[in-house]
Amino acid sequence: MRNIKKILIYTVVLTIISGAYVIMAPVHTAVPLKSWRADVGEATGSGLLWLLVIIYGRTLLKLLVNNGSLMERLLPEPAVNDTKSMLKKFIRFLNKTHPYVGVTTVVLVFGHTFLEGVSRANLLMDAILVLALWQFAFGAFLLTRYQLVFVKKMKRYSYMAHSQLYTGVAFGVFALFGHLLVGD
Ligand code: HEM
Ligand code: HEM
Repeated sequence: MRNIKKILIYTVVLTIISGAYVIMAPVHTAVPLKSWRADVGEATGSGLLWLLVIIYGRTLLKLLVNNGSLMERLLPEPAVNDTKSMLKKFIRFLNKTHPYVGVTTVVLVFGHTFLEGVSRANLLMDAILVLALWQFAFGAFLLTRYQLVFVKKMKRYSYMAHSQLYTGVAFGVFALFGHLLVGD
């Protein structure tokens, strides 16, 4: 409960900061793209939205089967009773496919930015690129099997760095406000 309160306060603060940035930032004059790039750019934007829904939908489902425990959802095999076995299977499928969905999301963030024109980037959009790299780097540490001391140490921190929900909130708030400064 305390964790959820913290996330809510963080969301409100981030929303206020992003809103202030949108109001104070110089107006971005958009040159509408009229080419295949506009169409593919649009499709990658919608694709990104869906991928983020899948990623955080998995988190929501895990929270549901764990009666809302933010920490317990990170256990490899959450305590799920058998009446929910279909749901359990579905969550397992989402778990197995997550690294692929994750890599696709990171690649698409950069692809979408390139297609929509990097020159129209603003600080909020830049932050999204950094967040994507953050998720990729720590996600890779979680998967790697290298036994180097440095890697082992990083692995311990990577769960905290990668699986927290603060980056998710930041993705949402920055994308929402960031897009107010781009486009037609
Ligand atoms: C923007 C991209 C990504 C986002 C938003 C994201 C988000 C998350 C979240 C929220 C969790 C915790 C799961 C939960 O809530 O229970 C998680 C776990 C994990 N992620 Fe990612 N992730 C991304 C990319 C990646 C990438 C690129 C990789 C691998 C290269 C990766 C590998 C993992 C692993 C191994 C776990 C822990 C095991 C598990 O929960 O399934 N993720 N990720
Ligand atoms: C979480 C990441 C992001 C998501 C979910 C996302 C999603 C979307 C969506 C759904 C659209 C609207 C497509 C349509 O017209 O139907 C869009 C457009 C656009 N996006 Fe993104 N986007 C993300 C990141 C970025 C980043 C990092 C940039 C960097 C510059 C960017 C730049 C643009 C631009 C310029 C447009 C065109 C806006 C317009 O012409 O109205 N987006 N995005």
